[in-house]
Amino acid sequence: MSQNNTFYITTPIYYPSDNLHIGHAYTTVAADAMARFKRLTGHEVWFLTGSDEHGQKIERTAKAKGQSPIEYVDKIVAGFENLWDKLKITNDDFIRTTEERHQRTVQKIFQQLYDQGDIYKAGYKGWYCTPCETFWTDARLEEGNCPDCGRPVEFMEEESYFFRMSKYASRLLQHIDDNPEFIQPVSRRNEMVSFINSGLEDLCVSRTTFDWGIQVPFDHKHVIYVWIDALTNYISALDYGSEDESKYNKFWPADVHLMAKDIVRFHAIIWPIILMAAELPLPKQVIAHGWLLLEGGKMSKSKGNVVDPLVLIDKYGLDAIRYYLLRELPFGSDGYYSESALVQRINQDLANDLGNLFNRTAAMVKKYFDGHLEKPTALEGPDQEFIELAQKTPQTVENLMERMDISNALAAVWQLVGRANKYLEETSPWALARDPERKQRCNDVLYNVAECMRMVTVMVTPIMPDFPPRAWPLLGLEGQTELHTWDSLTWGNMAKTTMQKGKPLFPRIDLETLEE
Ligand code: MSP
Repeated sequence: MSQNNTFYITTPIYYPSDNLHIGHAYTTVAADAMARFKRLTGHEVWFLTGSDEHGQKIERTAKAKGQSPIEYVDKIVAGFENLWDKLKITNDDFIRTTEERHQRTVQKIFQQLYDQGDIYKAGYKGWYCTPCETFWTDARLEEGNCPDCGRPVEFMEEESYFFRMSKYASRLLQHIDDNPEFIQPVSRRNEMVSFINSGLEDLCVSRTTFDWGIQVPFDHKHVIYVWIDALTNYISALDYGSEDESKYNKFWPADVHLMAKDIVRFHAIIWPIILMAAELPLPKQVIAHGWLLLEGGKMSKSKGNVVDPLVLIDKYGLDAIRYYLLRELPFGSDGYYSESALVQRINQDLANDLGNLFNRTAAMVKKYFDGHLEKPTALEGPDQEFIELAQKTPQTVENLMERMDISNALAAVWQLVGRANKYLEETSPWALARDPERKQRCNDVLYNVAECMRMVTVMVTPIMPDFPPRAWPLLGLEGQTELHTWDSLTWGNMAKTTMQKGKPLFPRIDLETLEE
């Protein structure tokens, strides 16, 4: 069992059927923000992502390009890793399902379930959706098409191995009932409960119609169903079933499996049942976020409306993209991507609110005090109320982050940023600076704003990794790492500082120039 202080978070392992788009980036950036937040709050984190490389779709795509499957996926997966690099994703491992360490574990679990009678062989006739790699019964088809993606299905007839899912249905329902946090948000939990209640059929877990997969260890004509293969990555990457299981013992069960709602059924039903059958602990939480949509619907290569995150990073910078993605999609619901909304967030939240607060404060401190600030000697006017908000914001942020509600956590930080800008208007340090008798008051006001800026910098660290390295020198706190920690977020921890005037942190973007 994992110890209290560890935190294991995963993203889906993505299909290398094509390059990734901004929708995939959303999941991975959200998981990264959470991993960074947990490290900042003192946890020992294991953050896993990877690629799901087997299956008929990949086999066909590679063939169409005149390549072997491995040649094809090697190239695409190198592109995944490059994208995560550019997005400054801090994953601790990257699992590929074509790796030996993974294949071994999948075969071992398949063998175990077969040996204990939970996997059996039977004839099968049914409808198969290749893009989703899923079999459907007549009853589940919608107008003859796949109920998940709406595409045509193919009729298949073969001998297959089946997994006795039905046997575990009531145990799973009980688990969901006993652990209200297990599937989040609640809307998804309800959906899963009604899916189970509508009757779980045994799952077809092998294929003979293609080769690109992990072989059934005792029957080489069959390859293992891609979802059994894929889901097992979460423990094969921890060396489960190998000689040294120390990583597994330390980090399993996972704290969070994160994904979008399209694949929650696999994670909240199939995966827990595999684990139950293998007598392994279930993940603590399965969190499904919404979809990032475009005006024309869901992003897809066939619609030709994919948004490439690499292009956006080049154009607007990493922090802006990460901030926009995590701020825009409310927890659990869908949201729309648009470049104009992105530019608006940059101009309003980053340039006007955050950047301006930092740049104008630093400029004033430089001008009136040659950069030096000391701790205040007295409280006046709005000080109390402003300080109280700053004092309670880290706890608010922490509570929201714990629920993976990153967008409201950011809203809470921006409420403080807004309050700080208003505080500057209320106290007018530029007027105080002209009055020699108000010099001390001017210091006090600017100190309060600077201390608030320090706290804001720490709080945005998990979301905007490029911001702190630019903000600390401006605040004069570059070397003082003890003031960069989550634990340091108590008001007044900064004894004094010497601020530096800096270049604008977030220049405004002129939409018209951009269009030209
Ligand atoms: N290979 C499986 C996952 C196996 S996990 C054991 C798979 N791969 S996928 O490449 O199709 O990735 C699906 C996931 O990508 C979604 O669950 C979500 O995390 C992310 N997204 C893909 N498009 C997205 C949006 N438009 N919006 C939000 N998330 C998106 O399924």
